[in-house]
Amino acid sequence: MVGSGPELDPDDLPDGLVVADALGRVVGFNRAAARLTGVRPAAALGQLLEDVLPLEDLDGHRWWQLTDPYGGLAIRTGQPERNLLLPGGREVLVSARYVRAVPRGPLERLVIALRGTEARRRTERSHAELIATVAHELRSPLTSVKGFTKTLLAKWERFTDGQKRLMLETVDADADRVTRLIAELLDISRIDAGRLELRKQVVDPAAAVRRHVERTVATGIPEERFDVRITEPLTVLWADPDKLDQVLANLLENAVRHGEGTVTIEVAPAKEVVEAPVWERSGTPPRIVEGTAVTVSDEGSGIPEDSMPRVFTRFWRGSKRGGTGLGLYIVKGIVEAHGGSIRVDRAPGGGARFRFILPAGVPDFML
Ligand SMILES: Nc1ncnc2c1ncn2[C@@H]1O[C@H](COP(=O)(O)OP(=O)(O)OP(=O)(O)O)[C@@H](O)[C@H]1O
Ligand SMILES: [Mg+2]
Repeated sequence: MVGSGPELDPDDLPDGLVVADALGRVVGFNRAAARLTGVRPAAALGQLLEDVLPLEDLDGHRWWQLTDPYGGLAIRTGQPERNLLLPGGREVLVSARYVRAVPRGPLERLVIALRGTEARRRTERSHAELIATVAHELRSPLTSVKGFTKTLLAKWERFTDGQKRLMLETVDADADRVTRLIAELLDISRIDAGRLELRKQVVDPAAAVRRHVERTVATGIPEERFDVRITEPLTVLWADPDKLDQVLANLLENAVRHGEGTVTIEVAPAKEVVEAPVWERSGTPPRIVEGTAVTVSDEGSGIPEDSMPRVFTRFWRGSKRGGTGLGLYIVKGIVEAHGGSIRVDRAPGGGARFRFILPAGVPDFML
């Protein structure tokens, strides 16, 4: 065991651990293994592994006979994780490591890890929920498209030009909604797979914010609703400009749609301690990020304290006015893919305040 301090106690492990010696007799059986198998450690120790853990695969084959760890090829180093059945049909995830004193020598120890299947069940359930939600989100605009086109085709002559235009505009908007939803889902699958592609360039954050406000004003939102405050000196960012646009567009749209009053956007140099994102958290210490922080705050009712941890999860929406609830999940994914971080709290005026930081820096070849 590497490391100082008190010795590792196998009973502290969250996973079941079973160790068998060179003769296939159980010499280690921790508490989690007892919990998962229902066998007491005292009853397991000294017994043959095959008797203590009579595992079968899903086709009913006896696992130890099938894998034959003590016979078989001496180059094998273990077994990858499999879903196996304990007597009584209880499922466990089992992986094994074959420990040999010399490479290709006889097996000295067999180390088996056992895990319950609840965690996997939970992810499977969340996948099923995701599919159900997506199907539902796609169905409502498509139902409207289908309804209007069918009506128009069947009764074309009976409608005035104005009515036809109105229906076609709805169809057009619903088609946009579907397209947008699909683009969001693609982003999400890339974020979840850690494969969000960033085409980084030198980006001037203040210019990006100004351009965005202009764009939003052009869609008919009065200019007075925005208050842009830039604190110089700002460093340039090494970021994907399209993705940064996506982040800003989402935050501004949210502030206008879900918030009220003046939307204040502050851009300022910043230095912050940033936790590693969840997907790389195991063992990754917090980092210090130096770069530019963008804060978007509004004067609406804000986000209730107890909902704050949920705003960045997918499909969470706080009100009926919400869209699909994917915007902030994507925003967070993009910011973290850049090595930055985002958080939400309450603005002094009471509304929601979102603040994200992106690391400064240009690539070596530009220095
Ligand atoms: N500035 C804000 N003020 C109040 N509530 C907000 C604000 N921004 C976001 N929210 C709440 O957070 C929820 C999630 O936001 P998110 O951007 O993820 O989804 P959405 O805006 O509902 O849909 P989408 O962005 O996918 O079209 C919103 O539905 C809204 O209830
Ligand atoms: Mg949104």
